[in-house]
Amino acid sequence: MNDILPGEVETWQFLEREAHRIFQLYGFAEIRVPVVEKTELFCRSIGETTDIVEKEMYTFEDRSSNSLTLRPEGTAPVMRAFIEHKMHALDPISKLYYLGPMFRYERPQKGRYRQFHQIGAEAIGVDDPMMDAQVLAMLCHYFEAVGIDSVELHVNSLGCRECRPQYRKALTAYLENRLQSLCADCQRRYQTNPLRVLDCKVPTCQEATTDAPSVLDLLCSDCDVHFKQVQQYLQKLGISYTINARMVRGLDYYTKTTFEMVTSQLGSQNAVAAGGRYDGLIQDLGGPALPGIGFAMGVERLVLMKGEQGVDAPRPDVFLAALGDAAGDEAFALMHRLQHLGLRAEMAFTGKSLKAQMRRAGKLNARYVVILGEEELASGEAQLRDMDNKDQQPVSLAGIEQALADKCRLC
Ligand code: HAM
Repeated sequence: MNDILPGEVETWQFLEREAHRIFQLYGFAEIRVPVVEKTELFCRSIGETTDIVEKEMYTFEDRSSNSLTLRPEGTAPVMRAFIEHKMHALDPISKLYYLGPMFRYERPQKGRYRQFHQIGAEAIGVDDPMMDAQVLAMLCHYFEAVGIDSVELHVNSLGCRECRPQYRKALTAYLENRLQSLCADCQRRYQTNPLRVLDCKVPTCQEATTDAPSVLDLLCSDCDVHFKQVQQYLQKLGISYTINARMVRGLDYYTKTTFEMVTSQLGSQNAVAAGGRYDGLIQDLGGPALPGIGFAMGVERLVLMKGEQGVDAPRPDVFLAALGDAAGDEAFALMHRLQHLGLRAEMAFTGKSLKAQMRRAGKLNARYVVILGEEELASGEAQLRDMDNKDQQPVSLAGIEQALADKCRLC
């Protein structure tokens, strides 16, 4: 679990600002849900035999013996809220997004933490493949907007409740002859959740399953047509993608389209964003039979990818350097008025020498410095220094707020 300090937080704020801006272009509205839910919600939605539910949840009993869990992801809580507030009665189509911390007891490493943050989006109520393409287009638009281009979109289809059992059967039969070559985890997964074997990072498991049957060969005609149409819409929008039939995802609620935005920059934590369709989930949780599709991005991974080209802290527009008590009082009131005009204004709160104050202005990287001493107070003219070109001009104290506001709107 990490502290996010000034210097890094600016990149976080930028990533969050762009999420609000881009997602709202697509008609998504923000939803905020609690960080704890009943444990049962995650068991039922993510799946009892997934890594998340089996070994990664922060689960505890409260004082009334309710089993609660710190949310490991955002989709299940958003669906719980959607159902609880009967949001479908207001509008059969809900497009929601969320930002916030998630918790998984994983082995920490670069790009993988126990408290991490997701920015996610969920589109509920439309089963048309056009919505799949729309959600993917929004995800790609976001990556363009934040200037992260070393990512690739991988897509797959996991079929539906009709065709997935057939694939599971074919895969189980295939794995049966290779059990000896699989790691202990995969030997267990073979029984409980065989699709997860394809996602194992252990090299011997990957080698043993190179020619495993492809889920795409066993899709029913409905899923097959859906996946082809998603691809046609992506092509129509000029969105490039790679089909990755081995992508199985770590949560059980997916149906049909699944996808990941992957990078080679983060070692084994290669998914910067991931998601898919979950057409049976809302009904399984006791809600109406409505389809849904969405994704979540890992903010820490986005920040790592922004890396060196992180976002600078905003520089102060003006620093007020005052000499003497009377000038200090005047500068204090002027700073207050400038802040209310929308300018980032700062001053030194202790009576330091002009040299020390100029050093502080330089350290803060202020755009302008106003120098105000007893002489300036008497003459009604302060000195205004442009810190970028070192030009210094007298400026009337009567018009100084307007002069600074005009200059700073241009800078
Ligand atoms: P997920 O693949 O479990 O999907 O997580 C989505 C993203 O969260 C990952 O691609 C990764 O960037 C980030 N992430 C996951 N675990 C960690 C971690 N321990 N440390 C840092 N980052 C992490 C979901 O959570 C689904 N709810 C996505 C979704 C939304 N599907 C449909 N709608």
